[in-house]
Amino acid sequence: MLVLVKYENFMFTDYTYSAVEVARKAGKILLEGFGTNFWIDNKEGKNNLVTEFDRKSEDYIIDALSKRFPETSFLAEESGSSNFFDKNELVWIIDPLDGTVNYAHNLPIFSISIALSRQYEILTGVVYNPILDEMFVAERGKGAFLNDEKIKVSKCDKLDDSFLVTGFPYNIDNNPGHCVEQFVMMLKRGIPVRRLGSAALDLAYVACGRFDGFWEINLNPWDVAAGFLLVEEAGGLVTQYNCEKYWIDCNNILATNGLIHEELSQTLISCYWEITCGNQS
Ligand code: IPD
Ligand code: CA
Ligand code: CA
Repeated sequence: MLVLVKYENFMFTDYTYSAVEVARKAGKILLEGFGTNFWIDNKEGKNNLVTEFDRKSEDYIIDALSKRFPETSFLAEESGSSNFFDKNELVWIIDPLDGTVNYAHNLPIFSISIALSRQYEILTGVVYNPILDEMFVAERGKGAFLNDEKIKVSKCDKLDDSFLVTGFPYNIDNNPGHCVEQFVMMLKRGIPVRRLGSAALDLAYVACGRFDGFWEINLNPWDVAAGFLLVEEAGGLVTQYNCEKYWIDCNNILATNGLIHEELSQTLISCYWEITCGNQS
């Protein structure tokens, strides 16, 4: 049975309400650890870190959600998947600490990302920034919210007037998809581009209109699942770089207010082809 619960002034399903509660508590765990002397380990790849608090946050989130919803499965960054999209089941997609490198260096830009999906459809998306106590929530068909306010994407309709954000994968030294040149190309056009280090926040900030667009290559489902729904429910557009339909296991993502989408897509693609064709001749 679908239970509806009042959150701020809105009615959400019990799943969404619980994801909000659990994200808030996980945020408390991260705040307790922030700036303390915790252990840090290297995962696969250079500077791909995991800390004691990635683990603590994830253990708490999985434990809390599985107790409330024993029928659900998990795809979580640090512990892998119990059941990923193959069955018609509800799967929680979790990044317990998005922005680990920031966190490990005491830089206060990080978030918790929790999404609920059924196969490829994201039903709920929650991104929480515990430092600013900003809770971004979206439920399919109900809109997107920041704390108690409904949010909308920005109205900027020219790429040259845009404020953009991007990120780089841990294997940036291989320059996948020519992500370095794409970044340089935007900067050379005089477009301000930021790199915050938390893809979930990047997407949440597109949803609430702080940024007009975001692109990145090689992200994982836990980085994007919640933010993807936030952008869509706030009236924005999420596709692959080439404007084709986006699935959360696609290798590149382009999320904008919709108005600059085509121009940004063309710019990214043209940069890629210029370099690829240039290198062949
Ligand atoms: C990373 C962040 C970062 C993005 C990386 C991600 P993590 O996630 O989202 O912004 O550029 O590609 O892997 O490792 O901090 O959870
Ligand atoms: Ca992440
Ligand atoms: Ca993470």
